Amino acid sequence: MADKKVIAVVGATGAQGGGLVRAILEDRNGPFQARAITRDVNSDKAKELAEAGAEVVAADVDDLKSLRKAFDGAHGAFCVTFFWAHMKPEKELSQARNMAQAAKDAGVDHVIWSTLEDTRQFIPLSDDRMPTLMGKYKVPHFDAKGEANAIFTELGVPTTFLVTSFYWDNFIHFGMGPKKGPDGKLAISLPMGKKKVAGIAAEDIGKTAYRIFEEGDEWIGTTVGISGGQLTGAQMAKSFTKALGQEVRYNEMTPEAFRALGFPGADDLGNMFQFYRDFEQDVCDARSISETKKLNPELLTFDRWLAANKSRIPLE
Ligand SMILES: NC(=O)c1ccc[n+]([C@@H]2O[C@H](COP(=O)([O-])OP(=O)(O)OC[C@H]3O[C@@H](n4cnc5c(N)ncnc54)[C@H](OP(=O)(O)O)[C@@H]3O)[C@@H](O)[C@H]2O)c1
Repeated sequence: MADKKVIAVVGATGAQGGGLVRAILEDRNGPFQARAITRDVNSDKAKELAEAGAEVVAADVDDLKSLRKAFDGAHGAFCVTFFWAHMKPEKELSQARNMAQAAKDAGVDHVIWSTLEDTRQFIPLSDDRMPTLMGKYKVPHFDAKGEANAIFTELGVPTTFLVTSFYWDNFIHFGMGPKKGPDGKLAISLPMGKKKVAGIAAEDIGKTAYRIFEEGDEWIGTTVGISGGQLTGAQMAKSFTKALGQEVRYNEMTPEAFRALGFPGADDLGNMFQFYRDFEQDVCDARSISETKKLNPELLTFDRWLAANKSRIPLE
C-alpha cells in the first residue's frame, strides 16, 4: 500500500468520481490508492467508500485551502464540477480555477479535467438559431467547462482534458426515462430529429479515466473524447422496446418545445440537444467509441447498459 500512488478524486461519492474510485479499488494489485474527496466524510456513501478501502478526506471545491490539503502528496487528481447543484457557470469556472490552482500548488503530476465543448466556438452568441442564455452562454453547463480548459493550461497544470458524453443514467436519475403519452404508450422525448446522441454509461467515465492515469504521461496535454454508443432517438427507443419487452416510441420534439418544458435548466438542455443535433458529426467524431474501448475494454454499449439497468428505469 505504502508505495502506491495516490489519486485524489473529486466527486468521489458521485457518478464520474465514484466510477474512478471503484476502478482503483477493484484493481487491488494496481499502482494506485484512491483518495475519495467528499464534503461529508460521515455520509453513508463516504463510509461505504472507506469500508471498501478508499482513503476518505474532506474538501469543498469552493474552498481552495481544503482542496490544496486534499491534493497534498497526490500523484493524480480527477477534477469535475457540479453544474446542476447550483446552475451557475461562473461558479463552475471558479471551482475549476480552485482545482487547477490546488493541483499546481500541490505539485500533482497528472490531472484529468472532466470537460465539455465551449459551444460558442461552434455557434457564436450572435447566431440566433439558438437563444443566448444568462447573457453570454449558449449551453451554460458546456461552455463554462470548455472555457475552464484554459485555466488548467495557463497555470501549467499537467492535464488531460476528458470530454464526456450524455449519461444514459439520465434515463434513470434525470427524469428522461420513457413516459406514457396521452395514447397510453411509452415514449422517450428528445429534440434530436434523426441525429445521433453520443452517450455513455456514467460508470464508464471513471473506468476510462483510470486507464488514462495508468498510461500516464502520453495523455498529458491531450484531449480525449469518450462515448460508449452513438444512437438516434429511434434507435434508443428500439433498444428500450427490446429490453423492457414493451413498445417504447421515439417522440421527436423541437428544441424550442424542449426549452419550453419549464423545469429548471430546460433551456440549457434544449440548447445542448440542439448542439448535439446540429453539430452531430463534430460531437460524434470528438468522442470515438473505438478509442474509448481501447482505454476501457469493458465499455458498455447502450443495449448492455439497458440490460443491466432496466429495472432501475422509472416508467411513468
Ligand atoms: N448528466 C450527464 O449526462 C452529464 C454528462 C456529461 C457531463 N456531466 C457533468 O457532470 C458533472 C457532475 O458530475 P457527476 O455526475 O459525477 O456528479 P454527481 O453524481 O451529481 O455527484 C456529485 C458529487 O460531488 C460532490 N459535490 C457536490 N458539490 C461539491 C462541492 N462543492 N465540493 C466538493 N464536492 C461536491 C457530492 O459529494 P458529497 O456530497 O459527498 O460532497 C456529490 O456526490 C456536472 O458538471 C455535469 O454537467 C453530466
